[in-house]
Amino acid sequence: MAALQALAGPAVVLDGSLRVRGSTGGVRDLLGFDVVEGVSLPSLLCGSGPKRPVAEAMAAGTPVQAVLPWPGPDAQGRALRVRSMPIGKSKKDGWVVLLEVVPDEDASDAVLFHGMWTRDAKMKRLFKVVERAAADDVPVLVRGETGSGKELVAQALHALSPRAAGPFRAINCAALPANLLESELFGHARGAFTGAHKDTPGHFQLASGGTLFLDEIAEMPLDLQAKLLRVLEAGAVIPVGGRAPVPVDVRIVSATHRALRQEVESGRFRADLMYRLRVIPLFLPPLRERRGDVPLLVEKVVEELNRGRRRRVDSVSPAAMLAMERYAWPGNVRELRNVLAYAYVIGEGTTLELTDLPPEIADADRPAQEVTPEPWTAASVHDPEAARIARALERARGNREQAARLLGMSRVTLWRRMRELGVASARA
Ligand SMILES: Nc1ncnc2c1ncn2[C@@H]1O[C@H](COP(=O)(O)OP(=O)(O)OP(=O)(O)O)[C@@H](O)[C@H]1O
Ligand SMILES: [Mg+2]
Repeated sequence: MAALQALAGPAVVLDGSLRVRGSTGGVRDLLGFDVVEGVSLPSLLCGSGPKRPVAEAMAAGTPVQAVLPWPGPDAQGRALRVRSMPIGKSKKDGWVVLLEVVPDEDASDAVLFHGMWTRDAKMKRLFKVVERAAADDVPVLVRGETGSGKELVAQALHALSPRAAGPFRAINCAALPANLLESELFGHARGAFTGAHKDTPGHFQLASGGTLFLDEIAEMPLDLQAKLLRVLEAGAVIPVGGRAPVPVDVRIVSATHRALRQEVESGRFRADLMYRLRVIPLFLPPLRERRGDVPLLVEKVVEELNRGRRRRVDSVSPAAMLAMERYAWPGNVRELRNVLAYAYVIGEGTTLELTDLPPEIADADRPAQEVTPEPWTAASVHDPEAARIARALERARGNREQAARLLGMSRVTLWRRMRELGVASARA
């Protein structure tokens, strides 16, 4: 212990079972509480949260250096750096653990904005723009990959706007055939078509006083784009089969996974409509471009799933976390949620293991030649997305609903991507 006191900073000595055998005076000053002899240091410092890589590494006998959330109640933006070294040759001989205060860049950084967790700087800047854009009635176009949070952004824009007390209505322009989409949007008059027994308001009228969210706007057929443009210019809709224009009072938020400018260049989208809708363009970065969010989202989703009480997960194994941090997440946050829900069902016990994860994540580290690509179509051999879709369909035994869930995309998106990649005909 004398040698220990001679050490420069706060330090704790542990026995082979990671229980406290002694500590320097500095420890109490640093932590603000006594580290009592006999307690387990990993439990004291790491608690029982889902992230316990230090505890696991020490249990395995590996020296570690890590920054942990502040163990006491009053963090004040501080975190704790620990460095542990085995005293002897074997981990049974015990450990010296050095403690040091560092500013907590992680925990203080995590923010929750209208259902969206992040610690990423790009996302935080986006939230600021959302806050400012919400105040005005200007049209916003949200661009982002599937599952990246476009609908949450649209809802945030509504909730923060002066229209918050009004309705929020969403319509997916990719999900309906053109004629149905038109009457859904603009409504129809009695007798407009067979089965139109009475005047029926469309989304423009139903969203009156609130926000209309036009999802997958790039998929809207050109002739309907022309009609939409007229409505936006006139501030009134003419229901299908109707005559009199009905004034509309909506704030338009639209979303797409495509680059609208490219759609304009290739003639699939009207330039004048693009300029109307895209007064404020917002870009949601895909999850793989904000990998720092992966552990945060894993932690938050695990907490949510724990509340469901089907199983209690206290920790995520370092291998599982690493695999998830490395994975490309084509289905973004939705896919991450689905993967964890899957792992919850597949695994058991209090630790989420690498083997609980779906194969495309657990096996990602395997060398490429071991992964047998599906001999789906010529396209699939070269296109990684086609191969992934093929694998998901295979795992779901051809059930598209389930395959879409595994990929973290909607059934509509899956169907569209299958068509675009030319994998649809192979099984349809
Ligand atoms: N930052 C985040 N934190 C927590 N949950 C999130 C976050 N971003 C998205 N989600 C969740 O992920 C799922 C997908 O989000 P959302 O529906 O907004 O995506 P989207 O971009 O509209 O997807 P799609 O293009 O497929 O319609 C939802 O369950 C949402 O709650
Ligand atoms: Mg959406």
